[in-house]
Amino acid sequence: MTYLNLKTNSKLNTRQIRGFKKSTANRTMQMLTCYDFQTAQVLNETSLDLILIGDSLGNVILGYDYTIEVSVETMILFSKAVKKGAPNKFVIADLPFGSYASMELGLANSIKLFQQSGVEALKLEGAYPYELQLIERLTQIGIPVMGHIGLTPQSVHEQGGYYTHGKDENSQEKLMKEALALEAAGCFSIVLEFVEENLAKNITEKLKIPTIGIGSGFGTDGQVLVINDLLHLGKNDPPKFCKPIANLYATKKQLIEEYLK
Ligand code: KIV
Repeated sequence: MTYLNLKTNSKLNTRQIRGFKKSTANRTMQMLTCYDFQTAQVLNETSLDLILIGDSLGNVILGYDYTIEVSVETMILFSKAVKKGAPNKFVIADLPFGSYASMELGLANSIKLFQQSGVEALKLEGAYPYELQLIERLTQIGIPVMGHIGLTPQSVHEQGGYYTHGKDENSQEKLMKEALALEAAGCFSIVLEFVEENLAKNITEKLKIPTIGIGSGFGTDGQVLVINDLLHLGKNDPPKFCKPIANLYATKKQLIEEYLK
């Protein structure tokens, strides 16, 4: 597909995304998170490939300690705003914690979030057998699904904190199996979060669909960053793997101080 070598302002579709591999496209697919209408308008006018309304909005927008507190209603509210601002982008929304804890819940909440927000696809964390079944069902009824394995923040307590996954043989085997199973279940791409970089590269080479990495090195087909980290919108320094392109926290503070004087 010729367009894959180009940065484009036109909206991608799942056929194009599914066929994207960095090795043949000679570029990295880029995804950023977004949570509000006005930022979505900016991104809509850039060559960015994909927008994710991550449940990280719980941390960076709502100040929660964990994404676990985010509800389906909250995801609908923010996803609607982003989709309204970025009509020309392929937009993906996160299914939040607990909303897909069973097939019934997963189907009902996915349909609600997809239908009410107008996004093009949903993302869910994990690759347990019931999640694979749900992904199959969702793709059958027309809801594209992005997978997410490695560090899955909704399971932070069960996983025992935030750390790099895939460092030992068992975990490497498990992650490779999960990635292949997600592809077989119908995912059009997979986020690899904090996956050991050689493993992330191996998974990328094994899969036909693109991998999108965060904190997983540069061997993946795509990269995703939380926009608040990239712009340093928060008070605290972003994670080490993210080199911010500005410090908008400091800039905003300085400009407001100048205005107040
Ligand atoms: O919620 C989020 O922002 C995410 C990305 C970090 C992949 O899931």
